Amino acid sequence: MSPLRPPLVIAVDGPAASGKGTVAEGLARHYGLPYLDTGTLYRAVALGVLSAGRDPDDAEAARRVARLLDPRLTDPVAIRDPDVGAAASVVAAHPPVRAALLDLQTRFAQQPGGAVLDGRDIGTVIAPRAPAKLFVTATPEARADRRFRQHLAAGRAVTLEGVLADILERDARDAGRGAAPLARADDAVLLDTTHLTIEAAADAARRIVEAARDRVR
Ligand code: C5P
Repeated sequence: MSPLRPPLVIAVDGPAASGKGTVAEGLARHYGLPYLDTGTLYRAVALGVLSAGRDPDDAEAARRVARLLDPRLTDPVAIRDPDVGAAASVVAAHPPVRAALLDLQTRFAQQPGGAVLDGRDIGTVIAPRAPAKLFVTATPEARADRRFRQHLAAGRAVTLEGVLADILERDARDAGRGAAPLARADDAVLLDTTHLTIEAAADAARRIVEAARDRVR
């Protein structure tokens, strides 16, 4: 990378199971950048709250877990449980929880060479000046189908109808909350993965980032 080139910060946002994680991971690999899936932070808080027998609606309990969170100590399998995903979107709506996780995310985004982050508010709140922003989406049905297959592969007993209902509920909560709602930043490029293979989505994402880099060169 040329020393004169600005840090490459790539913000990837989108709803649950849109493919944003796969796209973001692929971009991080391609550009040799560190990657943070910010959803794991909210899932880790949710898991901590549930494990302590507390209610995810309890903002103070969730804030305490968030303030003490060490993401390295979180069980990566347990946080993928559908109940933890649903609770994550409840704890994520509490402003003190978001405030407690802000610093970790902004520091990650400000690493010298750049970074790739995915979530719901990366392009709007965490890295509003990121030179490359993508908003990855797909129809609720396509997203439910993907998440359903992931759960089945992990041996979890779920139904397609249940997964779709969970996704719609989570979309409504994430987009409807007051604090840093799921939203496409004005300068984010839309990538609809409904009819794309993983490879085609990865190619499209790289083209979007290259075009963004050309603009700031
Ligand atoms: O991306 P993932 O589905 O793992 O995220 C779990 C939940 O965490 C989301 O439904 C959302 O409520 C919350 N989240 C958030 N902001 C982020 C990332 C995730 O509010 N940047």
